[in-house]
Amino acid sequence: MIRLLVVPSKFLLLLGIFECGHTYKFSEHRQERQPNNSYGAVNVTQAMKVPLYKELSAALPLVIRNLTNYSGLINDKGAPPNPNITYHFGELENDLAMLSDKVSGFYAVLHEMLPDGSGPFLCPLNKQSHIKECLLMATCLLEYHVPEEIELAAFTTYMEMTQRFIDVGWTVLKSGLLMEEPSPILNMDAVPPKKYQCDLLKHEKVTPSTAHSMLQVESSESEFESDGATLAMSSALIQASQASFQILDSHQVGSSVDATILKLHELWMPICKHLNCNHSSFWDLHYASYRQTASLLELKSGYAARRAMRREVQHRVKLEKRFGEFVSENHEYYSRLYNGTHFPPGRRFVDSNFIQASSRGESMIGHMRDFANEISTEESRAIRLFDHVEYRKFQKDRHGRRPVSLLQDENEENEENEENEEQEDSEEDEDEDEDEDKEVAIDDAEDVGSKDMEGVPALVEEDNVLEDGTEDDKGSRRRRRRRSRRRARRRWIGGRRRRRRRRRIFDVIANVVEDVAAFMESITGCLGYAIEFASTGYDYEVVPGAVSISLGLSAGARQALEDLISKRSPTLAISMDFGFAVGVTKKLLWSGTGLGGSVTCEVGASCEAYITVAVIGSVNIPTQSAACPMGPTWGAATCAQCFGGGISSMCCNMGFKGGSNDCR
Ligand SMILES: *[C@@H]1O[C@H](CO)[C@@H](O)[C@H](O)[C@H]1NC(C)=O
Ligand SMILES: *[C@@H]1O[C@H](CO)[C@@H](O)[C@H](O)[C@H]1NC(C)=O
Ligand SMILES: *[C@@H]1O[C@H](CO)[C@@H](O)[C@H](O)[C@H]1NC(C)=O
Ligand SMILES: *[C@@H]1O[C@H](CO)[C@@H](O)[C@H](O)[C@H]1NC(C)=O
Ligand SMILES: *[C@@H]1O[C@H](CO)[C@@H](O)[C@H](O)[C@H]1NC(C)=O
Ligand SMILES: *[C@@H]1O[C@H](CO)[C@@H](O)[C@H](O)[C@H]1NC(C)=O
Ligand SMILES: *[C@@H]1O[C@H](CO)[C@@H](O)[C@H](O)[C@H]1NC(C)=O
Repeated sequence: MIRLLVVPSKFLLLLGIFECGHTYKFSEHRQERQPNNSYGAVNVTQAMKVPLYKELSAALPLVIRNLTNYSGLINDKGAPPNPNITYHFGELENDLAMLSDKVSGFYAVLHEMLPDGSGPFLCPLNKQSHIKECLLMATCLLEYHVPEEIELAAFTTYMEMTQRFIDVGWTVLKSGLLMEEPSPILNMDAVPPKKYQCDLLKHEKVTPSTAHSMLQVESSESEFESDGATLAMSSALIQASQASFQILDSHQVGSSVDATILKLHELWMPICKHLNCNHSSFWDLHYASYRQTASLLELKSGYAARRAMRREVQHRVKLEKRFGEFVSENHEYYSRLYNGTHFPPGRRFVDSNFIQASSRGESMIGHMRDFANEISTEESRAIRLFDHVEYRKFQKDRHGRRPVSLLQDENEENEENEENEEQEDSEEDEDEDEDEDKEVAIDDAEDVGSKDMEGVPALVEEDNVLEDGTEDDKGSRRRRRRRSRRRARRRWIGGRRRRRRRRRIFDVIANVVEDVAAFMESITGCLGYAIEFASTGYDYEVVPGAVSISLGLSAGARQALEDLISKRSPTLAISMDFGFAVGVTKKLLWSGTGLGGSVTCEVGASCEAYITVAVIGSVNIPTQSAACPMGPTWGAATCAQCFGGGISSMCCNMGFKGGSNDCR
């Protein structure tokens, strides 16, 4: 598959090399990419230059991955040592230098994109205080290309991921820095000059009705009449969100929580009438609001849709965080409320339409893949987004010890290739069948009912797992796609034989081309899934303030649960629901990297899971449940329900016996 995708780049590469005088016939491929046939006249290097916004579309998720990793690393000093992590935190100066390194590729792209050479001034490499604003600027730079070059659905994924990192992950990262040196300067974030501010949220705060009136004007004056209702709902939601903030902020310590909550419920009632949610549950409203965001994808006015989408995502993340703080501040009230009445949050974290729209295949990840394939002819530019050490290691593993040679026996290699191709074809067919089986199995599982919320598997293996409906359509579309790719490849194989001798010379370079795409594939393998979890279990700290785990018994022996919580290997088999967070964890409020799911552990096993993680903020509401067989509290552990979700940024190993992890 990977090899397939890079085919066009390879040809372009050859073209680049033979720029001066040589002619090649591969118009088939060239035409796909470049309808203009007067190629000879133009500077090919110039013509092939991948637009910067494409590079940014790959750099943004990668820098968030880098920073999420960093935020785990810097907060996780007390965790059991992990041989895979060689860098040790603790020296502020070195740690800041490392932070600069983690954003270096992203900044290089931004510097080229920002107008009038303002890049190094707006996003100076050695100042952490500018990172937050520069992430926002990046979303604005991408927004200009919505919906023409970047679909709104993909942009939604970019926004969800970035905003969640800015509001949750960045705070966690800052607290790690502050732990090293409690200096208020470290806690500040730079504000760019007005001219470069693209984030409307700030202006809205000054005049709360601006957004509303703007939307009103825009929708009534616009020719897109049918967009009106959706946009009106959008602005109502945003107003409700702002008003909720005001109500929460005006709540005084010691004043009646009931009164405050009643005000909120009244505020949410009309919204919930529209969104079909339970206005007396914040979480129900919160999750329902994703459906509103999904409905923006239907709008005809691309401009109004992308603006509304940005605002909805920003307000949702901020209110979720604020509400979590409120619950945590008033945890006694909430544990009374939830004691004995174990509520899962009313609905799925993300609306299925939303998941479908922002699901991996053709979305954010699609843009990243496209970029890797197009850019791979300029290796140096491609790998500035990567961790160079990891990339070189990857290359070494990939090619083994044998250096790429120009003197191999031609025939031998050719036969080998043919065999491989055939094998791949049949493997692909098998994969296809497996995919379909898996999809069916998961559909069945989802029909089981509300229980499935509690055991949402953390490791999502298939693009389509989260999508609902029209499986047949998709299956056949995918099959069609595969068939045509296979055809393309066969064509390519034929051409390749003819050019065998010439190709030999370029093997080394072609390998590099493939490496870029393959490495991108490997580091995005865990990125971009919309994931959610809700699990009930004993919530306890493994590393005080930094790593917390929640373990709930779903099947097996209670003794095994006791073993794990006491950091022993289980003496009996156990199936459990879990949640965990690495970052800043307080008793009721987790923020950082984490997730949850279900896992089964064998007798004597170390009990680990390899899971996809996201930046999460989870409120852990104390509860009583069969998942907590030792009662609502057990030693330092509290039976609580944790839930949350996000767009995944990486994978890590989590050890449930003792909290060893590499989520960093
Ligand atoms: C092809 O590109 C050249 C150089 O950029 C330009 O002058 C010419 O008009 C283009 N032709 C077509 C058919 O687009
Ligand atoms: C083509 O453009 C690139 C980048 O602008 C430049 O470095 C190179 O010298 C140009 N090549 C020719 C043949 O004009
Ligand atoms: C996290 O950062 C460390 C230190 O730079 C690195 O060794 C590790 O590979 C990174 N992990 C991921 C998932 O990026
Ligand atoms: C270290 O990395 C290797 C390979 O990535 C993995 O198999 C191993 O489990 C990791 N070790 C720990 C302690 O996480
Ligand atoms: C991620 O971090 C590595 C260093 O570990 C750096 O080389 C790379 O440029 C960073 N990626 C981005 C997109 O900034
Ligand atoms: C709405 O949620 C509350 C708890 O927040 C619950 O008591 C009530 O029964 C729910 N109403 C409906 C109609 O589900
Ligand atoms: C919850 O209820 C149990 C008994 O049902 C009681 O023992 C416990 O104290 C209650 N917890 C809180 C926080 O009210």
